[in-house]
Amino acid sequence: MKRILVVDDEIGTRESLRAVFARKYEVRLAENAAAGMQILGATSVDVLLLDVLMPEKDGLAFLRDLRGTHPDLPVVMISAGTSVRPVVEAMRDGAFDYVTKPFDVLEIERIVERAIESTTLHRRVQTLEFEIEREFPVSGIVGGSESFLKALADARKAAESDATVLVTGESGTGKELVARLIHAASPRRDEPFVAVHCAALPETLMESELFGHEKGAFTSADRMKPGRFDLAGAGTLFFDEVSEMTPVTQVKLLRVLQEHEFMRVGGTRVIRTEARIVAATAKDLKQQAARGEFRDDLYYRIGVVPIRLPPLRAREGDVPLLARHFLRQCRPGPDTRARDFAPEAMELLCAYRWPGNVRELRNVVERMLVLHGNEPLIRAEHLPEEFQGARAGGPEPPEGGTLEELVGAFEKRLIEKALADSGGVQTRAAEQLGTTRRILRYRMDKLGIAASNGGGD
Ligand SMILES: Nc1ncnc2c1ncn2[C@@H]1O[C@H](COP(=O)(O)OP(=O)(O)OP(=O)(O)O)[C@@H](O)[C@H]1O
Ligand SMILES: [Mg+2]
Repeated sequence: MKRILVVDDEIGTRESLRAVFARKYEVRLAENAAAGMQILGATSVDVLLLDVLMPEKDGLAFLRDLRGTHPDLPVVMISAGTSVRPVVEAMRDGAFDYVTKPFDVLEIERIVERAIESTTLHRRVQTLEFEIEREFPVSGIVGGSESFLKALADARKAAESDATVLVTGESGTGKELVARLIHAASPRRDEPFVAVHCAALPETLMESELFGHEKGAFTSADRMKPGRFDLAGAGTLFFDEVSEMTPVTQVKLLRVLQEHEFMRVGGTRVIRTEARIVAATAKDLKQQAARGEFRDDLYYRIGVVPIRLPPLRAREGDVPLLARHFLRQCRPGPDTRARDFAPEAMELLCAYRWPGNVRELRNVVERMLVLHGNEPLIRAEHLPEEFQGARAGGPEPPEGGTLEELVGAFEKRLIEKALADSGGVQTRAAEQLGTTRRILRYRMDKLGIAASNGGGD
């Protein structure tokens, strides 16, 4: 049972609050700040209802103490309603909400429920972080959706082997993060992790970048320079944006993957490499190989263990987890005190499509904190313009027909569009729509949408 603590010097208020909440919660009462602090030190409390005006230490001073000892405890201020100033001040100091005496019972119940919801979510984020951290020694990776946790589980399994891993996913889904996790969870964790950005270098420099060069290999080579393969040693070599690798470099990399050997530019000595390869791409490498834009022999070597990171919009429940994670992690200024999102703001965040995925979410949270972080709650109107549209409720619904028919017609359009976007591949269309392939099939049958040729995956 969730626990509520009421700190108020008036016995009448304490008892009436007990009467309101005793059915659903365990209610503890304290008549002053000191007694309240004692209870908080001894038991875990989910919500604190705190009187603003009390004879010894008043509610505001107590609230400030709590920021040091119980920063995540939601506090609902009880105000006698004579002056708004202390309430405004309390909200600035991070109170969750306030009620005025005499109470509106429904209102106070609703506020307490919301406060409890916010702690529950908060704790969930912490447990998830903890669980993931236990599996991976690198921290700061957050997620609870089935599709994302499955990708992480695959990554962990892959970490144990020496197999080459190909991490795929849209931009900003965390490919590099997962590549680093694979390294950190592997037996090579004490060896170097070296990244190569395949799109960043012109082909002429790529070879010496990868394999190094001997002294005198070309006019400017006044000394031997080790390449990325040298630097990685027996660690992990990460090829980012591998789809952008030029054909010449592709041939060279293929040779190294086959022989585990390379030569520096201008050198004759054969050097053995023990490095493990992890590659990442936002493009469909298989399709590129089929079109002849990427060597298929290299594709087969690289893609031994594929790990697909789902787009953020297909990770159910992860937006609130990640948004709160970034909110707590990012403190751009000394007066940053925002501790949560208002419910409407969170709804808008959840409804958004996130084309830039986790990176975009992180940037949006950071931007809101820079601009509005001095307020206790991030509110809907703080969100950038592109989010405001979602509030208008989307396109106007057509007229005529029953609710069922209208919704069905709309759903049919959505599914057909997702299927077209994903070339008829149902698993991908389902992912795009944030559902499973089984449910998608069921809906397609129900709405009379035919599977395209070869669309059965
Ligand atoms: N699950 C997660 N938990 C916490 N932070 C995450 C998570 N996924 C991604 N991030 C953060 O989001 C940002 C983007 O992640 P990353 O650079 O790994 O994406 P990417 O897929 O490599 O993107 P791109 O294709 O644009 O290179 C990073 O700051 C990363 O730390
Ligand atoms: Mg990246």
